[in-house]
Amino acid sequence: MAGKAVNVKEFQELAKKALPKMYYESFAGGAEDQHTLKDNEEAFHRIIIRPRVLIDVSRIDMSTTILGYKTSAPIIIAPTDRHKLAHPDGEVATARAAAACDVIMGLSFSPSCSIEEVASSCNAVRFFQIYVYKRRDITELMVRRADRNGFKAIILTVDTPRLGRREASIKNKLVLPPSKNFEGLISTAVVPGSGSGLEAYASSTFDSSLSWKDIAWLKSITKLPILLKGILTHEDAIKALEVGVAGIIVSNHGARQLDYTPATISVLEEVVLAVKGKVPVLFDGGVRRGTDIFKALALGAQAVLIGRPVLFGLATNGEHGVRQVIEMLKNELELTMALSGCCTIKDITRSHVRTEHESLICRL
Ligand code: FNR
Repeated sequence: MAGKAVNVKEFQELAKKALPKMYYESFAGGAEDQHTLKDNEEAFHRIIIRPRVLIDVSRIDMSTTILGYKTSAPIIIAPTDRHKLAHPDGEVATARAAAACDVIMGLSFSPSCSIEEVASSCNAVRFFQIYVYKRRDITELMVRRADRNGFKAIILTVDTPRLGRREASIKNKLVLPPSKNFEGLISTAVVPGSGSGLEAYASSTFDSSLSWKDIAWLKSITKLPILLKGILTHEDAIKALEVGVAGIIVSNHGARQLDYTPATISVLEEVVLAVKGKVPVLFDGGVRRGTDIFKALALGAQAVLIGRPVLFGLATNGEHGVRQVIEMLKNELELTMALSGCCTIKDITRSHVRTEHESLICRL
């Protein structure tokens, strides 16, 4: 069935057929009016590529280095929770696909498989994403387990002091099995209440008092590099540099948190200019094509994270489906580079794209 998909977007339709409605809509949906959800993808359509010709593109090299780790392409699997809702093999299948494609995997704080199961399943370079719980001992324990099990970086998600209003989960009375990572620690099953069970779970566990000064606490419990995920403004990018993080991820959580935040691609450059190359800037939100990856790199991202397409590939065809999704994106990026006259990732420059803003100025 997955053989029928000729691009990443088509996996979404296949996943819709394969998944129970409750889970499909939870994966696909965003917050409230879903304005930002649509805009994350549509904003890419308003950026134009400026190709160069008569360049020898007989050899294309997409490989790059992220935090010192070599990877076959500037693609990272975004941390998304509970992969067993998509496929019985869960994050183990996703991690194996990452290893087979030689890309980095982000593991969510709330996976269906444990940190240890994922670590022992493959040799992919892995980063571990965390939320800070009111019970800091639990977050600390997870960080230590990730470190012990060879994860190479901590991704602190900073856009979730509370959970965004995801109306599909409320309507469907979303039920979630417990996350294996927390076995014997706290109950992580989500049961429907009068509103969203997930929202109730998050507000009872997430520490909404978390602030900039707590980065020092996180640094005191781990030597792993820390990336902040969920930065959307130059003001916060500068604060992130001040507290000494190793990298920034421009992200609006796949438009699942605050609706009417900007499409991430429209604020990437603002963050890149503020950071001035001091730390890597990574990017996610709405990446569905190799051309999207090319545009994000041209605007200064070092790599992109892929969220929903990985889940849809997993739901459609397990590990093989995730591999197909990543390979499709890699093939499309390679072709985009060839047709734009870029042989290496470094050859992709700001002058290879024209943003909507620049197009408007040209017309004046
Ligand atoms: C997410 N995301 C997310 N982020 C995070 O830091 N921890 C998590 O556990 C999750 N879980 C999660 C579940 C689902 C179903 C989705 C769709 C997203 C956000 C994710 O890491 C990433 O920021 C977005 O998915 C990127 O946008 P796209 O690629 O889905 O458009």
